[in-house]
Amino acid sequence: MRRRKLKDGVERLLAHRQWLIEAPETLKGKWATTSLDPPVHLEIGMGKGKFITTLAKENPDQYFVGLEMKEEVLLRGVEKAIELELHNIKFMWKNAQHLNEYFDSGEIFRIYLNFSDPWPKKRWAKRRLTHENYLKIYRKILGVDGELHLRTDNQGFFQDSINRLSGKGFQLKNVDLDLYRNRDEYTDQGIFYATTEYEDKFKEQGLPIYRLEAKPYSPTFSSL
Ligand SMILES: C[S@@+](CC[C@H](N)C(=O)[O-])C[C@H]1O[C@@H](n2cnc3c(N)ncnc32)[C@H](O)[C@@H]1O
Repeated sequence: MRRRKLKDGVERLLAHRQWLIEAPETLKGKWATTSLDPPVHLEIGMGKGKFITTLAKENPDQYFVGLEMKEEVLLRGVEKAIELELHNIKFMWKNAQHLNEYFDSGEIFRIYLNFSDPWPKKRWAKRRLTHENYLKIYRKILGVDGELHLRTDNQGFFQDSINRLSGKGFQLKNVDLDLYRNRDEYTDQGIFYATTEYEDKFKEQGLPIYRLEAKPYSPTFSSL
């Protein structure tokens, strides 16, 4: 899909810089000492931010970070946080490639990958957010109770992610091949999970949404 760039997106985003973590590398190993006291929930590739801002609103005693590399969509997320008067969310205008420079072992409680770009061609595999290079980082930064939660409309990406996750020391659970079959919204043990902008579009078209949760095995898992 063609990217429509906002002409003054960068200036508008930087006008809200108090919502941004501009030098996250200075926080590595120190997240517990910041106002974003862990457990921290991190959405990677948050797009326009409906999911992460809704979770932040519904869970005021927990902390949320939305990471996105495109300023024009990140700006929409920041605007939502302002409108909702949230106090427990910050944003990173960054590329996920550098995540291990921002977080140390165990500093993240949940990672959310929602409708990540599938990069279907073989030569693009390294760009997938579930490529082994990323999984290694996720394993490290997730704490003992840490989990990765993934949703997608793309069957190929889902299958590829299952293979890579299970080969890289993640235990899969709650694998769902059609999340909204027989339900309008997704809840788990009383926790309501928000939808994303992409998800709303696919739901409306009646397309199946794939979902899974993945938990790292112990750090000594032999294939790492
Ligand atoms: C298909 S969109 C989905 C957006 C949102 N999660 C949703 O479900 O509505 C994928 C988003 O991930 C972002 N993204 C892809 N790779 C990224 C990376 N390496 N670092 C940060 N953001 C990334 C893209 O810029 C894009 O906004």
